[in-house]
Amino acid sequence: MDIRNPQAAAGYAGPDDIWNPEEDDALLCLDVHQETHDVKTFTFASRDGKRFAFKAGQYFLFDLEQNGEPESRCYSISSSPHRTNAFSVTVKRVPGGKISNWLHDTLVAGAAIRANGPLGHFVRPTGPGRKFLLLSGGSGITPVMSMVREIADSCEPADVVFMHAARTPRDLIFRDELTLIAEKLKGLRLHFLPESVAGEPSWPGLTGRISAEYMRLAVPDIAERIVMCCGPARFMAAARKIVAELGVSEANYREESFDAAVIDEPDLPIVEEAAAKLFQVEFSKQSRKIEVSGEQTVLSCAKKAGVRLPSSCANGVCGTCKSKLVSGAVDMNHNGGIRQREIDAGFFLPCCSKPLSDLVIER
Ligand code: FES
Repeated sequence: MDIRNPQAAAGYAGPDDIWNPEEDDALLCLDVHQETHDVKTFTFASRDGKRFAFKAGQYFLFDLEQNGEPESRCYSISSSPHRTNAFSVTVKRVPGGKISNWLHDTLVAGAAIRANGPLGHFVRPTGPGRKFLLLSGGSGITPVMSMVREIADSCEPADVVFMHAARTPRDLIFRDELTLIAEKLKGLRLHFLPESVAGEPSWPGLTGRISAEYMRLAVPDIAERIVMCCGPARFMAAARKIVAELGVSEANYREESFDAAVIDEPDLPIVEEAAAKLFQVEFSKQSRKIEVSGEQTVLSCAKKAGVRLPSSCANGVCGTCKSKLVSGAVDMNHNGGIRQREIDAGFFLPCCSKPLSDLVIER
């Protein structure tokens, strides 16, 4: 197969055929590009020329196997949603990071990988006249890069401040491309904020960490903007505090994180009653049945049994594992990863749910 042109090579997908992970969850790696010393962009296409329909800010969940154990990781899409024949994710090598290191060291053009997506709700609100602050730290730049590429591709009239913080100038991902886009795109203001100038003493701009003083100076009208923020947990905690202090309402602040919260599960009498029992849990689409005790989460048993179920945080935060419960009852202790109206519509999060009866799950 010509991996640069899988559509031509496969030859049978029409322009309206959209990739559907329920039918075929394999993706073909088209290209690997070194962005910075420790960041690579991986570009994927479907194996049969299908297109991808996603929104800027969404992510894909990649399923891998490490030492015989299934592992899943979420990576935000960094490419523009207007380019539908392929999509890219941009991954920073993390010291000790099993999956990011595997991707960096092993994944090459031509290799296949399993994935589910697009997923996630970190998307820009639509509507005329909106002003944005796209705020990112480190590899958190990926979803907001997708947004700025979308704006550039569509020539959408924009009033966007793009602010990106990194350790040093050499850690600024997409620096050249963003500079070029900002030169052409009226309405885009770009601020890079390295913490130090290590490696580039001639750095012309300000340095340091984000602060209320810096934000006030760089984005004087911040209170009128919708803030889309992504970065490491500590960066986002600081950003959240600063933007609130500067008058951004809660409704106008959105953030993306794949960090799992550590939680203690409360004791519920009904769970104690069911704990000793074993329940039959059926995954209808995969025609699989497993046994899950009232003490275990559905996800943990499904993973051990090799049932395909997307997941990421395993703590009821991210919503990745959201599934339709066709029949049965569960005790679910989520952390915001599901909305009440979704629960009312019969959905649940297997990662934080223990069965209270036999279950049938649409997966
Ligand atoms: S895996 Fe994140 S909510 Fe279930």
